[in-house]
Amino acid sequence: MEMNGFLDRIKRREIQIGVIGLGYVGLPLALEFAKAGFRVTGFERNPEKVGILNKGESYVADVSSAELKKEMENHRLAFVVEPGKLKEMDSIIICVPTPLVKTKDPDLSFIISATNEIKAHLRRGQLIILESTTYPGTTEEVVQPVFEETGMKVGIDFFLAFSPERIDPGNKVYSIRNTPKVVGGTTKECSRLAQEIYSSVADKVVRVSSTKTAEMVKLLENTFRAVNIGLVNEITMICEKLDINVWEVIDAAATKPFGFIPFYPGPGLGGHCIPVDPQYLAWKMRVLNYKARFIDLAEEINTSMPAFVVSKVMDSLNLRKKSLNGAKIFVLGIAYKKNIDDIRESPALDIIDRLLEKGAEVSYNEPFIPMNHQYRNISNSKLAQAALKESDCVIICADHDQYDYQWIVDQAPLIMDCRNATKGIPNNAGKIVRL
Ligand SMILES: NC(=O)c1ccc[n+]([C@@H]2O[C@H](COP(=O)([O-])OP(=O)(O)OC[C@H]3O[C@@H](n4cnc5c(N)ncnc54)[C@H](O)[C@@H]3O)[C@@H](O)[C@H]2O)c1
Repeated sequence: MEMNGFLDRIKRREIQIGVIGLGYVGLPLALEFAKAGFRVTGFERNPEKVGILNKGESYVADVSSAELKKEMENHRLAFVVEPGKLKEMDSIIICVPTPLVKTKDPDLSFIISATNEIKAHLRRGQLIILESTTYPGTTEEVVQPVFEETGMKVGIDFFLAFSPERIDPGNKVYSIRNTPKVVGGTTKECSRLAQEIYSSVADKVVRVSSTKTAEMVKLLENTFRAVNIGLVNEITMICEKLDINVWEVIDAAATKPFGFIPFYPGPGLGGHCIPVDPQYLAWKMRVLNYKARFIDLAEEINTSMPAFVVSKVMDSLNLRKKSLNGAKIFVLGIAYKKNIDDIRESPALDIIDRLLEKGAEVSYNEPFIPMNHQYRNISNSKLAQAALKESDCVIICADHDQYDYQWIVDQAPLIMDCRNATKGIPNNAGKIVRL
């Protein structure tokens, strides 16, 4: 296959790019390629999402509707439900979900169906890139054989690469442009083409030697986070037993200019990445009869945090001669982290479930999701002064910047602060309890 011709066409922005799956990852990526001058088609199987996008509206917080509209009007960006146009694409990037099934085994069904859709339209010269986070070996063992069933050969008839997505929703400093992009192709030519495509949207592209190395890079990054968060969560439990403020310990340790990176405790892991991705690696290791011990231990500690939070709330109420049964608990921020609208796998939901189980009367406020949102038949509440005053305890789960923490402390009788959001606020009458 003529690679130099393809490279020139990328440089001249002549190729058409298809992005499959327009969620938190795919939509920003599609927009970025359009802004870089390519003609981009977004393939999204959910017709409701395509309907919203075709009105020029964005449903992903980091993607501006104005920018989206501009690229659509310039005919550089279009959205479709049907996969038929895949055959017109020169390069196709797969950004579909990679969740877990109930037993915590990988659910590759979305990757497999996207792969089959591409296979049905595969033509010579296409470059396919998988971005969905997955276990090492997926591109080579799952995706490549499906394409080769057509009789076409990778590196000869079509190109294949893996490039992990590193987007951090809500991060105002690091975007696609200034976050280095890692790529690994099945052959040198595959890597070179993937490198060239991403060079148009990322300032730095880092090439690794294979698709499975690139897959492993992502899993190291997210396992690193999960394990370090697990460590600091365990240190939190240790500090509680020793009556030491863990936040003060971390802040002081973080003054060491080398050999220490601060991680902070919290109510547990959430989102589509940190709780899920290490399980992909642990599963792959189980298949090879090896136990990924750090992953297992970090998971055990991190998933115990919601129960730890609830037991601290129970103890604090107990000191005030109150029981959790019948107590009014107001949970602030049910997104899995600050300043975003993503409540997938959020530990706040686990906390709410545990509070309800123990007979508490729970309400919550989440400014990043619609007011008509319901969880367990409880609607999103306004952050009203009366609701804070009437509660027995307020739990700060996500420390959104828009909350006025001094005001919240002034109103609430008791605050369980899972994020040190009340740092610096005087703890009068000991009403602030920190992790
Ligand atoms: N969200 C993050 O912060 C983040 C960061 C890095 C990596 N990732 C990884 O990126 C991948 C995508 O995550 P996401 O958060 O964007 O998921 P998402 O659920 O927000 O979006 C995925 C979209 O793909 C669509 N889809 C599924 N199968 C399809 C198909 N065959 N054709 C067309 N559309 C299809 C779904 O309808 C959905 O809209 C996952 O592997 C995830 O682990 C996510």
